[in-house]
Amino acid sequence: MAGYRELFDASIEDARTFWAQAARAVTWIRAPHTVLDDTNPPFYRWFPDGEMNTCANALDRHVAGRQDAGQERSDSGNQRERSDSGEQWGGRGEQTALIYDSPLAGTMRTYTYRQLLDETSRFAGVLRGLGVGRGDRVVIYMPMVPEAVIAMLASARLGAVHSVVFGGFAAHELAARIDDARPAVVVSASCGIEPTRVIDYKTMIDNALDLAEHTTPACVILQRDQAPCELKAGRDVSWTDAMADAHPVDPVPVAATDPLYVLYTSGTTGKPKGIVRDNGGHAVALLWTMRHIYDIEPGDVYWAASDVGWVVGHSYIVYGPLLLGATTVLYEGKPVGTPDAGAFWRVVAEHGVKALFSAPTAMRAIKKEDPDAAHLARYDLSTLQYLFQAGERLDPGTYHWASEKLGIPVIDHWWQTETGWSIAAAPMGVEPMSVKPGSATVPMPGYDVHVLRPDGTECDAGEEGSICIKLPLPPGALPTLWGDDERYVASYLSAFPGYYLSGDGGYLDEDGYLFVMGRTDDVINVAGHRLSTGAIEAVLATHPAVAECAVIGVADAIKGQVPRGFVVLKSGASADGLVDELIAAVRDNIGAVANLKRVDVVSALPKTRSGKILRKTMRGIADGRDEPVPSTIEDVDVLEALTPILQS
Ligand code: COA
Ligand code: AMP
Repeated sequence: MAGYRELFDASIEDARTFWAQAARAVTWIRAPHTVLDDTNPPFYRWFPDGEMNTCANALDRHVAGRQDAGQERSDSGNQRERSDSGEQWGGRGEQTALIYDSPLAGTMRTYTYRQLLDETSRFAGVLRGLGVGRGDRVVIYMPMVPEAVIAMLASARLGAVHSVVFGGFAAHELAARIDDARPAVVVSASCGIEPTRVIDYKTMIDNALDLAEHTTPACVILQRDQAPCELKAGRDVSWTDAMADAHPVDPVPVAATDPLYVLYTSGTTGKPKGIVRDNGGHAVALLWTMRHIYDIEPGDVYWAASDVGWVVGHSYIVYGPLLLGATTVLYEGKPVGTPDAGAFWRVVAEHGVKALFSAPTAMRAIKKEDPDAAHLARYDLSTLQYLFQAGERLDPGTYHWASEKLGIPVIDHWWQTETGWSIAAAPMGVEPMSVKPGSATVPMPGYDVHVLRPDGTECDAGEEGSICIKLPLPPGALPTLWGDDERYVASYLSAFPGYYLSGDGGYLDEDGYLFVMGRTDDVINVAGHRLSTGAIEAVLATHPAVAECAVIGVADAIKGQVPRGFVVLKSGASADGLVDELIAAVRDNIGAVANLKRVDVVSALPKTRSGKILRKTMRGIADGRDEPVPSTIEDVDVLEALTPILQS
């Protein structure tokens, strides 16, 4: 097989041939003749005349008797042989597809591919009975339970569009997503379980549905033993009751370009962006990554320790492993405290995990509790070959700790909800590339990465700039934002025409290794959760005592970043009890995951002469950097007065 450099060059020089070959790993209902439609830039479409069903690729084809993917053999030989040679799918009906391991619920359950197909096709029957058809939306607000995966796959089976909302978001955020997605059905559970408390999901859903302008006709609610809930007559049905007499339905053929899901993510404003994922390009890309990046084969056990509410959960708890016929682990627990800092190692040992994917914040939490990794000695980790890290930059300290303690390759890789898979990584299934601490290694095939100066010229090696990707983006990456082509262009494509603006800054070194140093906008990363400071500011600003406010992300040893708020009072307003009220308001409106713990009342905020708050300067001072005082500043005294507060 070709090495990284040849594969990458091939993907850029002749993207159509590269992705046509990768597309052979998908079982198509109608194989695409056109690989890329580039007739309407900056909108690009992959496999526009292809037809398939993502759920059928993730389940049915593994359960069926062994069969050829139905594609002609490739003779170009530039990708991994097994994926381009008319692969034999099927015969995996009795193989474990999903392992549900929940220290929080005290439950362990496995599903074979046959069982997962049976449950999914019957739940698709439930959704169809509630009126869901091709193109309709299904909002899924669930904890980490197998039913969340089943609901996603069932939606895909019907050609509907799921939108999973992370369970840590509160009613207001859920309502905003419901109003944008306008679902036919909401699927949820009576509760989620956190180490310190049971989260009442049902009240959250009821509140969100009340807040939303859109009327959702039906909800399916999974009753959990930890906190069963009351169902609203005429709207809610219990998952178990609905499944009792459900009839299985067959997969519905969809166009490769039809949306599979919408996943909302934080932008710079309070309004979340609905990232659209198509069916065909997504399946092609994820199948490619499972082998070439993660070095996973059908039958291997793969564990992404994330949440189905995030893109990592979509791509690598649900779709990637199942499309390939691997075994995926769904873990409802934490890296520490459920019950201890050996939790991850227990799961790896118990289920024979080959590759573990987590956020660096999880490793830092383990390292803090168990700096010598004493828990490792309690488990047999011989199956574990790789630790993949993403969600935030893998800091060199954590990299060295994990590499030394685990003695296996530790791979940082950089991606975003928008791309759905990694823009830069070390493709371990291609060749065992050496990594550099602090770098996400090299651009992946299809991602023509450039680091640009503000004037659009190319940065030199080692010079920091905006990390951009030359269009078209590869299969799997977002084709647009849900219902908002204009915002898609304005947010990502207008800063540098012909390029996608990632929102991250960094540099390429002289060896072509990419160093991603952090966001250039107001998005922050808190314990691996992507949040918008704008959304937090919007909540603070609604308090009647607040005249103006700013929220910045500051460095945190465990969570990477945490938000800090600064408010200026309206004249005559009292500060009594204000900080607690503001913190509670953010918790109630956005959710506990916002992690806002500190708000300072200040007399003024530093601004430019045109009135822009100097958030970047504030962030730099708070992080202990030597920030030059900007020449555009309105009033230097304000910044000077704020500096000791920022440094405290
Ligand atoms: N539903 C409801 N509440 C949730 C939640 C969920 N799904 N997830 C988190 N919360 C709550 C927590 O209970 C906590 O509440 P508290 O303030 O009352 O204690 C709050 O949100 C903050 O949670 P978190 O930021 O996760 O902090 P933590 O101290 O509980 O845990 C880590 C810290 C590092 C262990 C944890 O954040 C972690 O495992 N992060 C990895 C995240 C990840 O995998 N991201 C995906 C990227 S790959
Ligand atoms: P999300 O869309 O939630 O996956 O968050 C994407 C953002 O997380 C990126 O734009 C980066 O800012 C950050 N990120 C994710 N992975 C990495 C990484 N490996 N290195 C640096 N930043 C990362």
